[in-house]
Amino acid sequence: MQIKTISSNELKKADEFQQKILNPENKARYRTFGYIKRNYLKNPSLFVGIYDNSHLAGLIFGYVKRENVLLGEMAIDKEYRNRGLGSKLLSFFEGQVLKINKKKIILGARENAERFYLKKGYKPILFLQIKNSDVPKNYKKLTNYRIIKETNYKDAKRISFEVKQVSDYLKNKLVKIFHAYDGIYLFEKNLKARAVPYPK
Ligand SMILES: CC(C)(COP(=O)(O)OP(=O)(O)OC[C@H]1O[C@@H](n2cnc3c(N)ncnc32)[C@H](O)[C@@H]1OP(=O)(O)O)[C@@H](O)C(=O)NCCC(=O)NCCS
Repeated sequence: MQIKTISSNELKKADEFQQKILNPENKARYRTFGYIKRNYLKNPSLFVGIYDNSHLAGLIFGYVKRENVLLGEMAIDKEYRNRGLGSKLLSFFEGQVLKINKKKIILGARENAERFYLKKGYKPILFLQIKNSDVPKNYKKLTNYRIIKETNYKDAKRISFEVKQVSDYLKNKLVKIFHAYDGIYLFEKNLKARAVPYPK
């Protein structure tokens, strides 16, 4: 197995690979291939693949978002899962992030991958979106969960809470209390904490 940056002439094939796994129904895409290509040209080192000889077995696509890196796509071919490839590739990706002097990775995990990211030291965050007109007046005092970030948009407020675990019960509870129209778990990892060196 070999881990390396995806070359520009393999990017299209890599994109088809991840779409087959992450979007098998071929729904309208949030990150189009054009978007991926533009980001690849800016930061190719954040597009990494794991290869079995020359066969692509898994990949990660990452995007710089100000001071952080968003892990947008991660997929390991079904035939190659549960053999540690995802862990190795993620560890390599974290090294790539440090190399461009970024210290934090954020991602939105699919439900089936939440436990994977928890095992890899990613911390869950509950992210709520609330219409401005629905924000409760005393919203800062409604729970003991710490608000780690709050952003105001034209129509909505977004609040991130530090949570200890991923639970639908907690999500639904906070969505209700805060009159949120949407609640999802995000994960983040602060790479400064890492003590062991990264593979080259
Ligand atoms: C999630 C995924 C990337 C993991 O890759 P992988 O190569 O199978 O992971 P690893 O073999 O390195 O597993 C590492 C650990 O996580 C666990 N794990 C892996 N996938 C898991 C899952 N879906 N749920 C729970 N635990 C999982 C493994 O059991 C292993 O545990 P261990 O260290 O105690 O043995 C892969 O299953 C995948 O591509 N899934 C489909 C696409 C997807 O969901 N991508 C994530 C989008 S956010």
